[in-house]
Amino acid sequence: MSCSKGHHCCQNLKPKNAMPEMVSIVDIKNENPFVKTFTLDCSVDGQPGQFVMLWLPRVDEKPFSIAYDDGQNLELSIANVGTFTEQLFTKKPGDKVGIRGSYGKTFQYEDGEHLVVLGGGYGAAPLYFLAVEAVVRGCTVEFIIGARSAEYLMFEEKAMQLKAVKVHVATNDGSRGFTGTSVDLLNHLLNEGMKVDRIMTVGPEMMMKAVSDVALVRDIACQVSLERYMKCGFGICGQCVVDESGMAVCMNGPVMDHKLARAQAEFGKYHRDKVGRKKEW
Ligand SMILES: Cc1cc2nc3c(=O)[nH]c(=O)nc-3n(C[C@H](O)[C@H](O)[C@H](O)COP(=O)(O)OP(=O)(O)OC[C@H]3O[C@@H](n4cnc5c(N)ncnc54)[C@H](O)[C@@H]3O)c2cc1C
Ligand code: FES
Repeated sequence: MSCSKGHHCCQNLKPKNAMPEMVSIVDIKNENPFVKTFTLDCSVDGQPGQFVMLWLPRVDEKPFSIAYDDGQNLELSIANVGTFTEQLFTKKPGDKVGIRGSYGKTFQYEDGEHLVVLGGGYGAAPLYFLAVEAVVRGCTVEFIIGARSAEYLMFEEKAMQLKAVKVHVATNDGSRGFTGTSVDLLNHLLNEGMKVDRIMTVGPEMMMKAVSDVALVRDIACQVSLERYMKCGFGICGQCVVDESGMAVCMNGPVMDHKLARAQAEFGKYHRDKVGRKKEW
């Protein structure tokens, strides 16, 4: 089979994955001073850990994790960090954006397991989606979130409403919960005897590296979610390949076993910007 132009190049791409679909914003919610959750009137049949490409015509197109997808609406929790996200933050309910996806690998676990999910920043959003799904699959979940102070915490109250989910909060300044980082809190809970089958973590890479170090020392299965500069999202452009394996993170991740992440020379050290320059974390 070939595409409409008779080429063989794009024969494996479903139209939904290759081209953005224009959808409406139906709701915008402030999560903290930097992060808003955008609810869109579409579903991409997304699973926890996967991402979509969000297009603002005449601006750019950028990757964002699926914060929720219930088959009717898609939610994305987005931090305002630069030109694209600043433009997005000017949008109002009723405005349209382009969406394509879903892309990437999901979290892997077994029914009935006892999971730790550990999030930093907007990483709490895909982990909330994961917790909802995991509870349906008979899992119990320790939901650990951390922030520099209470006002930056996200999804604490939402997660508390889930049955079979226990929420643990850490703040660097002690304004809420445990005083210290989320990784300090993880170590504290494990030292107190918490047993766990698997740890899943999403957040700043240095935080995930520290979680991975804990998992390695204690021999606990662990998955991390890598962010690399992405343009196509489905393995064509080569923008997201990592040193030195040449592995495309959009296809082999973003969620991957932490041992696969650790085998990449750049994990926990650096990433590359849009022109391939190394940037230390
Ligand atoms: C798989 C994946 C999932 C992501 N999920 C989320 C999410 O749920 N919420 C969220 O707020 N952000 C998420 N991001 C990061 C998000 O894509 C960037 O913050 C956003 O593109 C910044 O664009 P900007 O123009 O506002 O800022 P810029 O000033 O252009 O960039 C700020 C930083 O964002 C990163 N970035 C910029 N462009 C890209 C790109 N095309 N691909 C990857 N990183 C980029 C770079 O590290 C850059 O230093 C995710 C990234 C990836 C790869
Ligand atoms: S973003 Fe194009 S290959 Fe991964």
